Formats: sequence, structure tokens, C-alpha cells
Amino acid sequence: MIGTANGNAISITGLGAYVPERVMTNDELSTMMDTSDEWIRERTGIRERRIAGPGQALSDLCLPAAREALETAGVEGSQIDLIVVATVTPDMAFPSTGAILADLLGAHEAAAYDLSAGCTGFMYAVAQAYGMLAGGLAQRALVVGGDVLSKILDWTDRGTAVLFGDGAGAVVLERVGEGGFLGFELGADGSGGPQLYLPAGGSRTPATAESVADRQHFVQMNGREVFKFATRVLVTSAEAVLAECGRTIDEVDVYVPHQANVRIIEYARDKLGIPEDKVVIDVDRYGNTSSGSIPLALADAKADGRLQAGKLVLMTGMGAGLTWGSGLIEWTDGGRA
Ligand code: UT7
Repeated sequence: MIGTANGNAISITGLGAYVPERVMTNDELSTMMDTSDEWIRERTGIRERRIAGPGQALSDLCLPAAREALETAGVEGSQIDLIVVATVTPDMAFPSTGAILADLLGAHEAAAYDLSAGCTGFMYAVAQAYGMLAGGLAQRALVVGGDVLSKILDWTDRGTAVLFGDGAGAVVLERVGEGGFLGFELGADGSGGPQLYLPAGGSRTPATAESVADRQHFVQMNGREVFKFATRVLVTSAEAVLAECGRTIDEVDVYVPHQANVRIIEYARDKLGIPEDKVVIDVDRYGNTSSGSIPLALADAKADGRLQAGKLVLMTGMGAGLTWGSGLIEWTDGGRA
């Protein structure tokens, strides 16, 4: 799927992020499994990640991120009429974490639900909310991307456990005077599904004592295949959205790629020809937070002053599905219509 703004000026008017307090370093992981700080840093760029507490579920991470996004947008929960939560680790299968969040925020007029597109979830959710605003169905949307992958990791599998962390980010989308989203490109290749998946717990393989004993309720990944896929789509998706919007790579001021592995980011940056100082990287501090990754990186870029009005920001996600998605936005500082 690919398309441009088509005359609509819809932008991010509020931004918030939250990560759990608990820091887990590579050295700590080395005491739990056969790995080392050196291997993890060299192969992934990750130094540490945040891990949710035993009682912390996804909505507990989304709530502070959402509150910050609403506050920076200067709107109340009751003014939101659409909530989309992108995640693969909802509080439970149903009710949706979106509905739970709507209640916690007092968003009683909002349609609220979850969306599952792996680590690309945030880009899908933003594009979907954008479409609802552009079509006139919604006026003010809250999009949250977050995951608590620590709860579904196999802590005996060094091939996955060292890569991920927990976190959430949120944005408010509204109509603005000018600027905002210029276009999106999203895609999925379901044939790659088995490369990164959670085998049991769905209707294909419901939970049984056997599925638990077989560790079927944990993330399974073919790292090398996902690596190849990631390096390919980060480049092709970015090029596609730029071409569709009539923009060039040189015009991009801030590049916000999915934070999975610093080697993947550097490969894409190199192929695309984006200078190092335009790239946002925080995978060293948070690991791969799945749907939380891009909004957390946006919040980092905002905090360090890179997200100024008029800047052209390119975001690209990729992940389970296999899925990918890019969005191009001319940053606006508030500027609601
Ligand atoms: O959001 C999308 C989600 N996922 C991704 O984006 C992940 C994409 N894939 C990757 O980032 C990389 O493939 C990994 C970081 C997962 C692995 O890096 P790699 O350079 O592809 O390593 P590898 O799988 O080829 O393994 C190299 C060696 C192996 O040992 P042998 O067979 O050479 O003896 C592994 O067993 O490294 C070993 N290894 C480890 N050693 C220490 C694998 N994981 C670890 C570990 N610590 N944690």
C-alpha cells in the first residue's frame, strides 16, 4: 500500500514515551545465559534494556506515555475520538488494551482497539489513524506503540533474549494548518511469518500443558533471515515513500528507523546515503522495543532538539508478519488547524 497526503494536513501534535525503571545490562544477561557484553555490543549495538516489573502489563507502560502525549498536545482524554494501540503483547487477548486505555484516560467518545503488525505496528497504526482523520471519521487520534516483550521471551534462548526490551510511546494526531504527513508505504509478506513468531496460545495451537512444557509460548526467530529481510525493506520502503512523495533522500533531515540492531540501521543508512548525524539511534539504551521503538526514538529526537518545525522526518519500521512500513512527515510544532 502506498499513498500521499492528497491535500490533507494532518500531523503529530503531541508526543510521549515511557520505559520501565528497571535496567538490565549485558553483564547481567551474561550471568543468566552463555553470552557476553562484547558479543551483544558488537553484533547488535545494545548495551542495556528496560524490563517491566512482575506486575507491569502493557497498559501500565502505555498510560504514562499516552498522558504525556495528551499533555504536550494540550488535549484531554475526553477529546480523543480514536485510540489505536499497536502491540503484540496486549494485557490479554481481549478486551483490547486500547479499550482498557480509553477507560483509564476518560476517552469515553473514542473508538478503541489494538493492531498487530509486529515491530511495524506503530507505522501501521499511524497510517490507519491518519486515514480515519483524512476521511473525516475521526478528529483527534491517540496512537500508542508499545510492547512488553520480556514477558514472552525465552530467557534460556540467547538468540532472542538479548535483543529485546520493554517500552511504549504515544502520539496525538490532528489536523494542522500546513505540513504534517506527506505519505506512507506499508507492506506484508506472510510467507516470511515463520521467521519470527509466537507458535502457541492462538487458535492454531491453544495453550496446553504440553505447549507450555515445549516453550511454545515464547518468541521464536530465525535471526539471520530476519536480518536479511530487514536490511532489504528498510531501503526499499524508504525509497518508495520518498519517490511517491516527490522527495529525495538529501531532503531528509531526521531518519528514524526501527531500533532492532545498530548493524541493520547502519547498513540501511549507508545504502540510502543518509549522513550519520541525521540518524536517531537509541537501541543501545533500550534494545528492540518492537512497537515502542519508533515513538521512543521520536521522543529522543524531540528531547535532543532535532525535531523542529519544517524538518523532514523519515520513519521506517519492519518486523513480524513479515511486515514493513514507512511514513514521511514534515514536522510541525503543534500548529493545529
Ligand atoms: O524487529 C525485528 C526483530 N529482529 C531482528 O531485527 C533481528 C535480526 N537479526 C539480527 O539482528 C542478527 O541476526 C542477530 C543479532 C540475531 C544475530 O547476529 P548474527 O551476526 O546474525 O549472528 P549469527 O546468528 O550468525 O550467530 C553467530 C554466532 C553463532 O555461533 P556459531 O554457530 O558461529 O558458533 C551463534 O550461536 O553467534 C552465536 N550467538 C551468540 N553468542 C553469544 C548467537 N547469539 C549469541 C549471543 N551471545 N547472545
